[in-house]
Amino acid sequence: MKQMWKHNHVIDLSEFSLEDYISVLELANRFKSIPKSGSRKLPALQGRFVATLFFEPSTRTRSSFELAAKKLSADVQTFSPSSSSLSKGESPLDTALTYVAMGADILIVRHSSTGVPKQIANHLKMLGKQTSILNAGDGLHSHPSQALVDLFTLAKFFNPEEVNPSILKGKTIAIIGDVLHSRVARSNLWSLTACGANVVLCGPPSLVPEEFCEFTKTPPPGQLEDPIQHRGQISISRSLKEALNKSDAAITLRIQKERMAENLLSDLDTYHREFGINHKHLKFCSNRIPVLHPGPVNRGIEMSSEVLDDKEICLVDKQVSNGIPIRMALLYLIIAAK
Ligand code: NCD
Repeated sequence: MKQMWKHNHVIDLSEFSLEDYISVLELANRFKSIPKSGSRKLPALQGRFVATLFFEPSTRTRSSFELAAKKLSADVQTFSPSSSSLSKGESPLDTALTYVAMGADILIVRHSSTGVPKQIANHLKMLGKQTSILNAGDGLHSHPSQALVDLFTLAKFFNPEEVNPSILKGKTIAIIGDVLHSRVARSNLWSLTACGANVVLCGPPSLVPEEFCEFTKTPPPGQLEDPIQHRGQISISRSLKEALNKSDAAITLRIQKERMAENLLSDLDTYHREFGINHKHLKFCSNRIPVLHPGPVNRGIEMSSEVLDDKEICLVDKQVSNGIPIRMALLYLIIAAK
């Protein structure tokens, strides 16, 4: 395998080159093809210590990171906020430093505030520590592993034979719903446009502000340059029918009430009528469009219950199962580069 990987931390996909995407997807595809019957663990992370520090709830991200680390033979420790010293006032940084002192090689961090994984990574750099930080979702900012799962799932849908992110070049992907509060959508924007896909964002102005068209135009503060020379375009559509009609795939997003500062939606029934995907919408599309969702799904809001259960159309189960090989690939590449 080409060894061009140079990331000790994975915080934001704005830092990923096309080679990085190829490395993760190709390796994930190899892990995915290991037959279940030969379920011996791979020794790649033997003697390594991985801790999951989720200061915010999670079902699939945490479980799949832990399963991925175990499949690579790592020692895995789960930090649970409710039974920890957080309740005694310990900060997330001091919690992280506690695991570093125990010898953690990788900390997988989720926090409701933007920037926490980066702050921990900066602090470790200052201390000269080698522990890697893998961002499992920070505030509204970034959720790299989920966007890599989505990219892998789409690449496999468009070409099941081989997994190559360049298959997305020239394709149009609709991202529908609560873009404003979605760290997944922000990471999707970096990854999809890096691979040459055009993205059409669809939703009401309160959830999809016009400024998102400029999202990938400049690297985030603190990052000197964009490793991608030519990105796909971002546009906005206020009509679900129009967005679906010009797209090759659709990613819908949860209405994230817990992250909304104010009530930005009049009511969920109206939202579902305007932006919830059902079979009728898909029947009138010119292409056969798969529907993805990072989960958790609100049945009957982002999509109809029937679409969610239609395995021909809805790739949610595939996203969940692809979560394991993608996270194995990230863990493997980080450790291999040490
Ligand atoms: C997402 C998250 O936590 O950002 N879920 C996930 O990790 N798969 C999306 C969400 O919360 O809606």
